[in-house]
Amino acid sequence: MDALCFDMYGTLCDTSSVTAALRRELDASAAHAANIDATWRRRQLSYAQQRSQMNDYATFRAVTADALDYALARHNESPSEETRNRILDAYDTLDPFPDALDALDDLQGEFDLAVLSNGNPEMLETLASTTGIDERVSRILSADTVSTFKPSPAVYEHAASELDRALDECWLVSSNAWDVAGASNAGMNAAWVNRNNDPEERVGGAATIEVESLAALPDAF
Ligand code: LAC
Repeated sequence: MDALCFDMYGTLCDTSSVTAALRRELDASAAHAANIDATWRRRQLSYAQQRSQMNDYATFRAVTADALDYALARHNESPSEETRNRILDAYDTLDPFPDALDALDDLQGEFDLAVLSNGNPEMLETLASTTGIDERVSRILSADTVSTFKPSPAVYEHAASELDRALDECWLVSSNAWDVAGASNAGMNAAWVNRNNDPEERVGGAATIEVESLAALPDAF
């Protein structure tokens, strides 16, 4: 039985759920909240990658907080610390994508299901329990254990070793094209959940399979 390692943020759970907290806490318009959210997410990913490259690890929670502070400053917002912390806490209650839990249920029994995320264990466990993902996977694996971030090969290798399988007996399932490219580069199979019909990445390995939603995944296998 192969193992499926699901990316958490952007794949099982919708990071844009934080726009509700941005609107509420900053009394912001939908467009302004969406702009802050887009900057926040972009910086979160680039700060994680930069920290990997600089060999200067910090938890994904800290990276997410730094990225939020940048996004708030970039969009001329200077909330109180309490307000800023309430916005940050929205990361603990993201919505799962509408097809995420059903897809996990459908794949149950055919694969060993796990989460493999850049999130640190505390963040992941909180979110997995608020969404019910924790009841559907056997393991929650974090890049934190190897103190670096995907797409570093060390993270995918760590997952395979924890799941007691060879890399090519594991699949990464991700909506993040860079994550798919990283897993494939490291020697894992990769299923790309390409919701926005993005072009393929030019760096890293190719996806083994490509689907447009998590709901399409069981049939694709
Ligand atoms: C994850 C984010 C970075 O690893 O997509 O869950």
